[in-house]
Amino acid sequence: MKLLELINISKIYKTGTEHLAALDNINIAVNEGEFTAITGASGSGKSTMMNLLGLLDTPTSGTYRFMGEDVSNLPEKTLTRLRNKSIGFIFQSFNLIPTLTAEENVELPLIYRKIPSSRREKLVKNALEAVGIAHRKNHRPSELSGGQQQRVAIARAIAASPSLILADEPTGNLDSTAAKTVMSLLRRLHESGATVVIITHDPKIASSAERVITVADGRVV
Ligand SMILES: Nc1ncnc2c1ncn2[C@@H]1O[C@H](COP(=O)(O)OP(=O)(O)O)[C@@H](O)[C@H]1O
Ligand SMILES: [Mg+2]
Repeated sequence: MKLLELINISKIYKTGTEHLAALDNINIAVNEGEFTAITGASGSGKSTMMNLLGLLDTPTSGTYRFMGEDVSNLPEKTLTRLRNKSIGFIFQSFNLIPTLTAEENVELPLIYRKIPSSRREKLVKNALEAVGIAHRKNHRPSELSGGQQQRVAIARAIAASPSLILADEPTGNLDSTAAKTVMSLLRRLHESGATVVIITHDPKIASSAERVITVADGRVV
């Protein structure tokens, strides 16, 4: 079953009179349960692709089908709702809220999703345990190492079992040991059935995914 599909997708940035095709007629599909890496050099179009896949931006032309629905031209409000419901994000810089504990960071998106508190408690506990960071649940981000912060961020991304886990350079700010831990966590999520897409400029990180899509100059190569 296809989870997502980009069909003849282009994204053109216009600056003044210049038109730049950051994505140039892209066709890719990702099946449910796949672990895919999207890789390419700086400027190849990875962030643009991540923004489209994550429903953070819309294409200039082409069709994006997500969970069987054409989402290419949905209004911002609908995109936001779908994004919050279906996609768990993991970022290079973790993006945890500094004033909240690990546990509270994981809980926050569940509050937004109006999940009742008893159920939230259970989901938070499960997610923190799944990434091996439950013993640090009362720590704030500044009291955790980079690798630990990324584990909290992964717990936040997976807590509500999203249809897609989308990770943007998830190991970019980590030393090689922490990077390996994060990659093995993502692999384990994949083995337990999650659909994972990571964006990385690092071919070595990309090679630990099940499938690698390489972009260059806005095209799949
Ligand atoms: N908002 C923007 N306005 C104009 N050009 C952009 C914008 N974002 C990206 N670009 C250009 O689009 C191309 C692809 O960029 P990007 O998707 O950020 O690549 P990557 O993430 O692989 O480095 C680059 O040439 C970049 O300069
Ligand atoms: Mg980028």
